[in-house]
Amino acid sequence: LRRIGVLTSGGDAPGMNASIRAVTRTALYHGLQVVGIRRGYEGLLEGDFVPLTRSSVGGILLHGGTMLRTARCPAFMRPEGINAGVSKLRENDIDALVVIGGDGSFRGAKELHDRGIHVVGVPGTIDNDMAGTDCTIGFDTACNTALECISKLRDTASSHDRMFIVEVMGRHAGFLALETGVACGAEFVLIPELPVDLEAIANKIHYAKQRGKTHSLIVLAEGVMSASELAEKLKGHCDYDPRIVVLGHLQRGGAPSCFDTVLASRLGAAAVEALIDGKRGMMVGRTKDEIVTVPLETAWTQHHPLDSDMLRLVETLSI
Ligand code: F6P
Repeated sequence: LRRIGVLTSGGDAPGMNASIRAVTRTALYHGLQVVGIRRGYEGLLEGDFVPLTRSSVGGILLHGGTMLRTARCPAFMRPEGINAGVSKLRENDIDALVVIGGDGSFRGAKELHDRGIHVVGVPGTIDNDMAGTDCTIGFDTACNTALECISKLRDTASSHDRMFIVEVMGRHAGFLALETGVACGAEFVLIPELPVDLEAIANKIHYAKQRGKTHSLIVLAEGVMSASELAEKLKGHCDYDPRIVVLGHLQRGGAPSCFDTVLASRLGAAAVEALIDGKRGMMVGRTKDEIVTVPLETAWTQHHPLDSDMLRLVETLSI
């Protein structure tokens, strides 16, 4: 192993820069050269490479976004695209690759591995929807960002006796909604993993209002339906005229939390160490505070379960 590449791919996540820094500095520490590949697989296909040095990753540790930039690359979902990626890596003497991204990016990484490229994945997505790790880089920060926004909404909701429906990201998973819902004391958390019972929601809101509750917060995962759809469906069923807020890409920005910065640093370093140890086609993750290495496909072939205690907590604490 002489020269390794690193790229960020898919949706950006706070902490990706900390990971790029950790990959670079760990590799340099062990006498390896590092090449940054800009704009994920898109940049790989175009040969958009930049040498990374100790100082080129200085000052990025606590910056949101990714200094290598990122992209979603449809061409990399086709065999011709992946073969072209393999050729680009070989032409540029890149012996191994660290892919920082979500499960879509890991699928691309697995294809590279199957064609003989040495790859290790670092899980980075605000959705936390990957198995093989308890938490993905960016999830904690996104929860904190959503919480900050929702606590501001709570102020105005209670002043005006209003209901707010807050749509949070998460793609097909409810991790972000559940975590922020518990943290902000939402009356309801609606997630794709569970059926939505509109009648039950309407009844609960009605009785809560009768008991003197003057406002209501629903945290809605985008994977269930849109906030405007839910508001429409609830119209006529409840005593509020709901206001809707879509937090959207706000949740992807901002400086990483302490937790994400440390996680990203640990996983970035572990990815390079795994390559040095001869591990191939693996992802690094954090399970019960241990850094683990498991096959890349764990991310999407296994199930990352939602914590059922958390679901019960929403129910119990929102009486
Ligand atoms: O995967 C991260 C994520 O932010 C999802 O939560 C969301 O559904 C999606 O990316 C949005 O993607 P884009 O930025 O391409 O609109």
